[in-house]
Amino acid sequence: MKDPPAAWTCRMGYEESIFSAMTRGPFRYRLPQTNLPRGNLMLRIFGIALAAGTLASSGALAQDVKVGVVLPLTGGLAPVGKQVQAGIKAYMDKNGASVAGKKIDLIIKDDAGVPDNSKRLAQELIVNDKVAVVGSGITPSAMAIGPLSTQAKTANVVMVSGTSAAINPNNPYMVRTSFTLGQQSGIIAEWAAKNGSKKVAIVQSDWAPGAEATAVFTDAFTKAGGQIVETIKVPLANPDFAPFLQRARDANPDTLFVFVPASQAGTFAKQFAERGLDKAGIKLIGPGDIVDDNDLPGMGDGMLGVVTAGIYSAHHNSPMNKEYVAAFKKANGYRPNFISLGGYDGMHLIYEALKKTQGKTDGDSLVNAMKGMKWESPRGQISIDPDTRDIVQNVYIGKVQKVDGELYNVEFATFNAVKDPLKMKK
Ligand code: PHB
Repeated sequence: MKDPPAAWTCRMGYEESIFSAMTRGPFRYRLPQTNLPRGNLMLRIFGIALAAGTLASSGALAQDVKVGVVLPLTGGLAPVGKQVQAGIKAYMDKNGASVAGKKIDLIIKDDAGVPDNSKRLAQELIVNDKVAVVGSGITPSAMAIGPLSTQAKTANVVMVSGTSAAINPNNPYMVRTSFTLGQQSGIIAEWAAKNGSKKVAIVQSDWAPGAEATAVFTDAFTKAGGQIVETIKVPLANPDFAPFLQRARDANPDTLFVFVPASQAGTFAKQFAERGLDKAGIKLIGPGDIVDDNDLPGMGDGMLGVVTAGIYSAHHNSPMNKEYVAAFKKANGYRPNFISLGGYDGMHLIYEALKKTQGKTDGDSLVNAMKGMKWESPRGQISIDPDTRDIVQNVYIGKVQKVDGELYNVEFATFNAVKDPLKMKK
């Protein structure tokens, strides 16, 4: 058996769990005698287990296609996982649970947004459940699962992460159906510069997607002649925005650019209004995350007039979206948000890839089928860039308004087929 690639040997965390799984419980394995260092031995055990899994999954009798998705269904970002799960279910309710003559067996696991959990759960899905496709969620989890799907050569659909760097040439089985923060942040920077913003303070959730939002916004806004007066990073876990908002206000900007992840927009808006920032004459702009449809109905009139560049609004005007929103609300009792689409379109991508491969489930066949795929989503036309495996989609500038008494992000300008700017050749 070949030694694993060097890049992989750096990531040793999960060998421990497969080791303990194989030496615990009702089935104990005798480990081969060897003089290899422990880490190397564990890698080989994982490799053997993967090989066994691959053999089993290619068995002629296997009719079901297992899709295993690892999401944060508890913890601070639980609303994110719930939206993806509901998006997946909405797709399967509409399209049935069979495709290309195979039944889709969906397995959803809760990692609570903790990457060590994501790694362990993805490993179990790949080795024990022999899933044909693994789905991954938020950035740290997607990054933890990437090397596993690469080693196992299993198609990996990234349904939440908005970090450009998560989809990269080192992990060729990863395909994104969510979005990148860069896609939205450059567009809102240019819009702000053209619409009177000169001095911007940035408030950014302190993790990878926030860093990319800030980098792309800063680059585009300063190139357009604007100035960044302050960049403030807010911890991701249990954020209290009040002191950071005060600092931002003290920097005397005319505009505030804010990135907080889905599920934190409601808290942010409340503290924004409590500090009187909605009445201070400072414009609020951002990527679509700050007008998350999950939170928007409860965010208060302080959000009226907020302008964002985002990938989706529940208000998006297309027959497909109207049908999606109605079915989603009926099933869940709340609006779908931009996050839900990663799950809905992720399933579409998997279904269509299976049709194209006529049911073949090896990672190479599935990922090749996914590359270049184009389709209409409730968010508009989207496609998978065949070179980067990243999503290409419309970005809409929208403004928060009241529609029939409820707050909605009403789109008023469209940028078609936007690629991830951080992957475009300079
Ligand atoms: C991410 O995991 O990168 C992520 C999650 C939620 C967001 C944006 C980015 O709203």
